[in-house]
Amino acid sequence: MSDNSAHPGQPPRARSWPRLALVLAAAGSLVVGTMIAFTPNASAGTTLGASAAEKGRYFGTAVAANKLSDSTYVGILNREFNSVTAENEMKWDATEPSQNQFNYANADRIVNSARANGQQVRGHALAWHSQQPGWAQNMSGTALRNAMLNHVTQVATYYRGKISAWDVVNEAFADGGGGGRRDSNLQRTGNDWIEAAFRAARTADPGAKLCYNDYNTDGQNAKSNAVYAMVQDFKARGVPIDCVGFQSHFNAQSPVPNDYQANLQRFANLGVDVQITELDIEGSGTTQANNFGRVVQACLAITRCTGITVWGIRDTDSWRASGTPLLFDGSGNKKAAYTSTLNALNSGGNPITTPPTPPTTTPPPPTTTPPPGGAGCSASVSLNSWTGGFVATIRVTAGSSGTNGWTVTTTLPAGATVTNTWNATASGNSGNVQFRNVSYNGRLTAGQTTEFGFQGTGSATGMTPSCTAS
Ligand code: XIL
Repeated sequence: MSDNSAHPGQPPRARSWPRLALVLAAAGSLVVGTMIAFTPNASAGTTLGASAAEKGRYFGTAVAANKLSDSTYVGILNREFNSVTAENEMKWDATEPSQNQFNYANADRIVNSARANGQQVRGHALAWHSQQPGWAQNMSGTALRNAMLNHVTQVATYYRGKISAWDVVNEAFADGGGGGRRDSNLQRTGNDWIEAAFRAARTADPGAKLCYNDYNTDGQNAKSNAVYAMVQDFKARGVPIDCVGFQSHFNAQSPVPNDYQANLQRFANLGVDVQITELDIEGSGTTQANNFGRVVQACLAITRCTGITVWGIRDTDSWRASGTPLLFDGSGNKKAAYTSTLNALNSGGNPITTPPTPPTTTPPPPTTTPPPGGAGCSASVSLNSWTGGFVATIRVTAGSSGTNGWTVTTTLPAGATVTNTWNATASGNSGNVQFRNVSYNGRLTAGQTTEFGFQGTGSATGMTPSCTAS
């Protein structure tokens, strides 16, 4: 049976951690990024989403499908937020109530509403010990492993192209001092269940960022150290992981940690994005407002903190409503916490910067660039590197004749090996490597672009991809 510690109706987790001495190497960031000086906005945003967007971030909320008929709720949702997460509707029990019988009705209501209102969608959550359907709770071993992988594949495939980031695995680590995995039916299928889920998700939706998401990992402690070690290991072995979600459910017993920013930064330094995924802070008045401000400031100070999601709109919508932990009161009025959040968004931080070698600033070599209006195609690379590994994103641009298909060829430096490719099929994994389009991205009209990517070990600095069209 699974551990149901976060099941509906359970009280919030509140746990104080022994304060560990923060020993963060202040050594420079390993993430290759172009730093540009931040100048305060001339035009401060007037909504959470607009203000976050000015900083290259999203500001999202959890949404419940059954509230989409509440006009006050919907009014705030579509005015303030540019990202949504289904609060319960994409969980295993909701989407696969009987084995292999999928039901996306409520999740689709949220996705369709978001798309109609220009909001991106965070997918939550593919594999989790909690909120499993009864049939899965009663499974174990290979049958459960296969059922989980089928679930990940089916759901991620169904929503392919519509999800900005998936919480592929949620809450897999144990609380307490040991720094180990949480016991669950999934964990008992073998320690590699997490990476198996990530690989299945990448195959099913290569365009979505793939996140590991957890709580009580917001500061540095034994649990976040264990997650950190997993991410480091995944990066070293080429397991596809792009982001780490920090739930950030705070209250008096579990306050915003003093090393919150430093903790998120050390994950970002591993070469993953970080996201604040389920923010709520119990309390009221100035104290609550200041805490929300601190959290927002922390995110904006981290170049790879790409967005913040609050876990509901009004206090009365919250899973822990008695703690009044959100930005709007029960009538939909803005609280002091709203104002401090907006002010922090408008005043803080590092902008998200363009990749180190963006297509616009690094002209591809002459042999690969068709003359303006020429035929063929061109390819340019942006590289995200860390010690021992990299992710390359290649942008293919069709020339004046468009393409029926394309092949990008690049030579990897000695020692570099491709471990994973998405949105293209690779021939070879070292030296001279060819990437061909897949079924859905070969046809491009004149000037149209598409992107594919690959991950590898070693260093890929200095690649100069070329493109041929067919
Ligand atoms: C919560 C929902 O908000 C509740 O409506 C539901 O009853 C239980 O789950 N961590 C998570 C979220 O990842 O999915 C949980 O959401 C809150 C804790």
